[in-house]
Amino acid sequence: MKIDCKASERVRASRTQVRRLSVASKSLKMAGSAECPVVEVAYQTDLGTMIHGKIENALESRYLQDHKGKINLIVTSPPFPLVRKKRYGNETGEAYLQWLEALATPLAELLTDDGSIVIEIGNVWEEGAPIMSTLPLEALIAFKRAAKLNLCQHVICHNPARLPSPAAWVNLKRARLKDSFTHVWWMSKAEFPKADNRRVLNPYSKDMKKLLERQSYNAGTRPSGHVISKSGFLTDHGGSIGPNVLDLAGEHYPESLLKYTGTGWDAGYRSYCKKNDLPCHPARMQSSLSAFFIQFLTDENDLVLDPFGGSNTTGSVAESLNRRWISVEADRDYVDGSIGRFPRLAFEEQNESAG
Ligand SMILES: C[S@@+](CC[C@H](N)C(=O)[O-])C[C@H]1O[C@@H](n2cnc3c(N)ncnc32)[C@H](O)[C@@H]1O
Repeated sequence: MKIDCKASERVRASRTQVRRLSVASKSLKMAGSAECPVVEVAYQTDLGTMIHGKIENALESRYLQDHKGKINLIVTSPPFPLVRKKRYGNETGEAYLQWLEALATPLAELLTDDGSIVIEIGNVWEEGAPIMSTLPLEALIAFKRAAKLNLCQHVICHNPARLPSPAAWVNLKRARLKDSFTHVWWMSKAEFPKADNRRVLNPYSKDMKKLLERQSYNAGTRPSGHVISKSGFLTDHGGSIGPNVLDLAGEHYPESLLKYTGTGWDAGYRSYCKKNDLPCHPARMQSSLSAFFIQFLTDENDLVLDPFGGSNTTGSVAESLNRRWISVEADRDYVDGSIGRFPRLAFEEQNESAG
């Protein structure tokens, strides 16, 4: 169905009959095109808005321009860089780096002064060789530099349950270890962005629980030189402060993340995609990772953006945590499938299709 570009016109989509609202886009006007809008609002919930389109175009739309300085947290996993070995240099890699770098400033401009950007990037391997690409890290550095951001913390997201990969070098040649973590870079404009680790405490260990009951331990100087005071460990703070290695599938994830771990969070989404003959997103973010940073870095009613929304894990987790959200996704099928993350919308959608 052809979609008119006038702002606020409501149209009905042909495939999943999602209500859509076109967004006036500066880039559209520059292109002078009367064709489909470059970006459009695909659906809205009580707290959020899903935009279909490329983030480059969405950033130029009036909708996101109006949100400059108002977004408390950007949490996202961008598409991975493609690595193709070329005889002279690696054009694909360089183009990726420049593309991500160019997004840094306009994204940072959307942030509140105390806002944060959290980017998850996995490891990338060179094609045809057991060699890791440094491109993801170079792209992160370029992104950070371009927007003059501070690196608040480099967090490792460890998923020991991952299947062994890359299979050729790990399973067959037995020449490499299983790749089981992703890089998460937490960046900000300010030195002290909004953050409170008390919201993401890990459960105390058995030993610590005993110590709190006993109300005694060996104080004094440890071989490392650390001085342990007489009463510093006697107060129950409700849990221990987590390390910068997140084991979100393990025993020690914060209790506040319980409902986001495992496969439960995705069940409704997967069955909705299946019913509607839509592809399940192949590279979904762990809902517990998104939940961890949303809880750690925002308050209720704050605004969270995911510029590479995919199946809209971020938006659905934000909604359940009473945060407002905006997601942008370029692929129409992933946008349509993401409705399955919102039971009320999915229900309405099914009824409309049936009727
Ligand atoms: C790694 S996936 C994100 C997955 C998402 N976090 C989830 O949980 O489903 C990256 C997504 O970015 C989308 N994408 C790629 N280029 C884009 C662009 N220029 N603007 C918006 N989305 C884009 C891809 O279609 C893909 O769905």
